[in-house]
Amino acid sequence: MSERNTQLKVSAIKDGTVLDHIPAQSLFQVIDILDLSHCGNPVTIGVNLESKTLGRKGIIKISDRFFLDEELSRIALAAPDATVNIIRDYQVVSKKRIELPAEVIGIAKCSNPMCVTNNQAVTTRFATVVEDKKVKLLCHYCEKTTEEFIPLRH
Ligand code: CTP
Ligand code: ZN
Repeated sequence: MSERNTQLKVSAIKDGTVLDHIPAQSLFQVIDILDLSHCGNPVTIGVNLESKTLGRKGIIKISDRFFLDEELSRIALAAPDATVNIIRDYQVVSKKRIELPAEVIGIAKCSNPMCVTNNQAVTTRFATVVEDKKVKLLCHYCEKTTEEFIPLRH
Protein backbone atom coordinates (compact mmCIF):
# COMPACT_ATOMS: atom_id res chain seq x y z
CA MET A 1 0.00 0.00 0.00
CA SER A 2 1.35 3.45 -0.80
CA GLU A 3 1.97 6.17 1.76
CA ARG A 4 -0.75 8.18 0.09
CA ASN A 5 -3.32 5.51 0.93
CA THR A 6 -2.19 5.16 4.53
CA GLN A 7 -2.44 8.91 5.08
CA LEU A 8 -6.10 8.77 4.14
CA LYS A 9 -6.68 6.53 7.15
CA VAL A 10 -6.30 9.47 9.52
CA SER A 11 -8.49 12.34 8.41
CA ALA A 12 -7.31 15.90 7.86
CA ILE A 13 -7.89 18.45 10.59
CA LYS A 14 -9.07 22.04 10.22
CA ASP A 15 -6.84 23.74 12.80
CA GLY A 16 -4.21 22.39 15.13
CA THR A 17 -0.93 20.50 15.28
CA VAL A 18 0.10 17.35 13.42
CA LEU A 19 3.09 15.47 14.77
CA ASP A 20 4.34 13.28 11.95
CA HIS A 21 7.18 10.82 11.35
CA ILE A 22 7.20 9.50 14.89
CA PRO A 23 8.93 6.10 15.08
CA ALA A 24 6.14 3.60 15.84
CA GLN A 25 7.87 2.42 19.03
CA SER A 26 8.04 5.99 20.40
CA LEU A 27 4.42 6.96 19.78
CA PHE A 28 3.09 6.21 23.23
CA GLN A 29 6.04 7.96 24.85
CA VAL A 30 5.17 11.10 22.91
CA ILE A 31 1.55 10.82 24.05
CA ASP A 32 2.86 10.62 27.61
CA ILE A 33 5.29 13.52 27.25
CA LEU A 34 2.55 15.84 26.01
CA ASP A 35 0.14 14.45 28.60
CA LEU A 36 -2.44 13.93 25.86
CA SER A 37 -4.50 11.55 27.97
CA HIS A 38 -5.54 14.65 29.93
CA CYS A 39 -6.04 16.85 26.89
CA GLY A 40 -9.67 17.81 26.31
CA ASN A 41 -9.18 18.56 22.59
CA PRO A 42 -9.99 16.08 19.83
CA VAL A 43 -6.87 13.92 19.31
CA THR A 44 -6.50 11.38 16.51
CA ILE A 45 -3.68 8.90 16.56
CA GLY A 46 -2.35 6.63 13.83
CA VAL A 47 -0.13 3.72 14.84
CA ASN A 48 2.05 1.51 12.65
CA LEU A 49 1.30 3.42 9.46
CA GLU A 50 3.60 2.71 6.53
CA SER A 51 6.34 5.22 5.91
CA LYS A 52 8.94 5.23 3.14
CA THR A 53 11.64 6.43 5.49
CA LEU A 54 10.79 4.87 8.85
CA GLY A 55 9.24 1.53 7.94
CA ARG A 56 6.41 2.06 10.38
CA LYS A 57 5.50 5.44 11.72
CA GLY A 58 3.12 7.05 14.13
CA ILE A 59 1.17 10.24 13.69
CA ILE A 60 -0.69 12.38 16.22
CA LYS A 61 -3.18 15.11 15.29
CA ILE A 62 -4.34 17.50 17.97
CA SER A 63 -7.16 19.82 16.94
CA ASP A 64 -7.20 23.45 18.06
CA ARG A 65 -4.00 23.14 20.04
CA PHE A 66 -0.66 24.83 19.37
CA PHE A 67 2.25 23.87 21.57
CA LEU A 68 5.02 26.02 22.98
CA ASP A 69 8.49 25.35 21.57
CA GLU A 70 9.49 24.20 25.03
CA GLU A 71 6.72 21.58 25.03
CA LEU A 72 7.68 20.44 21.54
CA SER A 73 11.35 20.16 22.38
CA ARG A 74 10.48 17.52 24.98
CA ILE A 75 9.24 15.30 22.17
CA ALA A 76 12.78 15.24 20.83
CA LEU A 77 13.70 12.95 23.71
CA ALA A 78 11.54 10.18 22.26
CA ALA A 79 11.37 11.16 18.59
CA PRO A 80 14.23 13.49 17.56
CA ASP A 81 13.31 13.25 13.87
CA ALA A 82 9.60 14.00 14.18
CA THR A 83 8.01 16.78 12.13
CA VAL A 84 5.65 19.37 13.56
CA ASN A 85 3.01 20.69 11.15
CA ILE A 86 0.87 23.67 12.08
CA ILE A 87 -2.53 23.51 10.37
CA ARG A 88 -4.75 26.54 9.88
CA ASP A 89 -7.95 26.30 7.86
CA TYR A 90 -6.91 22.88 6.47
CA GLN A 91 -3.56 24.22 5.16
CA VAL A 92 -0.10 23.32 6.44
CA VAL A 93 1.12 26.83 7.31
CA SER A 94 4.34 25.79 9.03
CA LYS A 95 6.45 22.64 9.06
CA LYS A 96 9.43 22.27 11.34
CA ARG A 97 11.73 19.70 12.78
CA ILE A 98 11.81 19.35 16.50
CA GLU A 99 14.91 20.74 18.19
CA LEU A 100 16.59 18.73 20.88
CA PRO A 101 17.22 20.86 23.96
CA ALA A 102 20.80 20.95 25.30
CA GLU A 103 19.48 20.41 28.83
CA VAL A 104 16.50 18.48 30.14
CA ILE A 105 15.17 19.56 33.51
CA GLY A 106 12.53 17.73 35.50
CA ILE A 107 11.04 15.54 32.74
CA ALA A 108 13.13 12.39 32.71
CA LYS A 109 14.11 9.97 35.45
CA CYS A 110 17.71 9.01 36.15
CA SER A 111 18.27 5.27 35.62
CA ASN A 112 20.72 5.09 38.53
CA PRO A 113 18.80 3.97 41.65
CA MET A 114 21.55 5.48 43.84
CA CYS A 115 21.22 8.92 42.25
CA VAL A 116 20.25 11.72 44.63
CA THR A 117 17.30 12.54 42.34
CA ASN A 118 15.82 9.10 43.08
CA ASN A 119 16.25 9.44 46.82
CA GLN A 120 15.63 13.07 47.71
CA ALA A 121 13.38 15.84 46.48
CA VAL A 122 15.88 17.02 43.86
CA THR A 123 14.74 17.96 40.35
CA THR A 124 16.44 15.85 37.69
CA ARG A 125 18.79 17.59 35.29
CA PHE A 126 20.57 16.10 32.26
CA ALA A 127 22.70 17.16 29.35
CA THR A 128 21.60 15.57 26.07
CA VAL A 129 23.93 13.58 23.81
CA VAL A 130 22.97 12.00 20.48
CA GLU A 131 24.58 8.69 19.58
CA ASP A 132 23.42 6.49 16.68
CA LYS A 133 20.36 8.73 16.24
CA LYS A 134 19.32 7.94 19.80
CA VAL A 135 19.17 10.49 22.57
CA LYS A 136 21.11 9.73 25.72
CA LEU A 137 20.87 11.68 28.94
CA LEU A 138 23.88 12.54 31.04
CA CYS A 139 22.90 13.13 34.66
CA HIS A 140 24.15 16.40 36.15
CA TYR A 141 24.24 14.85 39.63
CA CYS A 142 25.55 11.30 39.37
CA GLU A 143 27.14 11.65 35.89
CA LYS A 144 25.65 8.32 34.78
CA THR A 145 24.21 8.01 31.29
CA THR A 146 20.55 7.10 30.95
CA GLU A 147 20.01 5.36 27.61
CA GLU A 148 16.25 4.95 27.70
CA PHE A 149 14.07 7.94 28.26
CA ILE A 150 11.90 7.26 31.30
CA PRO A 151 9.30 10.01 31.87
CA LEU A 152 8.89 11.16 35.46
CA ARG A 153 5.43 10.43 36.83
CA HIS A 154 3.60 13.49 38.05
N1 CTP B 1 -2.52 17.16 7.62
C1 CTP B 1 -3.70 17.09 8.35
N2 CTP B 1 -4.71 18.00 8.13
C2 CTP B 1 -4.57 18.95 7.20
C3 CTP B 1 -3.38 19.04 6.43
C4 CTP B 1 -2.35 18.12 6.67
O1 CTP B 1 -3.85 16.24 9.20
N3 CTP B 1 -5.59 19.78 7.01
C5 CTP B 1 -1.43 16.22 7.89
C6 CTP B 1 -1.12 15.28 6.73
O2 CTP B 1 -1.91 14.12 6.83
C7 CTP B 1 0.34 14.98 6.96
C8 CTP B 1 0.89 16.20 7.69
O3 CTP B 1 -0.26 16.93 8.15
O4 CTP B 1 0.48 13.85 7.81
C9 CTP B 1 1.72 17.08 6.83
O5 CTP B 1 0.99 17.40 5.67
P1 CTP B 1 1.72 17.57 4.26
O6 CTP B 1 2.87 18.49 4.44
O7 CTP B 1 0.69 17.91 3.27
O8 CTP B 1 2.21 16.06 4.01
P2 CTP B 1 3.60 15.52 3.46
O9 CTP B 1 4.01 16.29 2.25
O10 CTP B 1 3.47 14.05 3.33
O11 CTP B 1 4.57 15.87 4.66
P3 CTP B 1 6.13 15.48 4.79
O12 CTP B 1 6.82 16.02 3.60
O13 CTP B 1 6.53 16.18 6.08
O14 CTP B 1 6.17 13.99 4.91
ZN1 ZN C 1 21.58 10.60 38.26
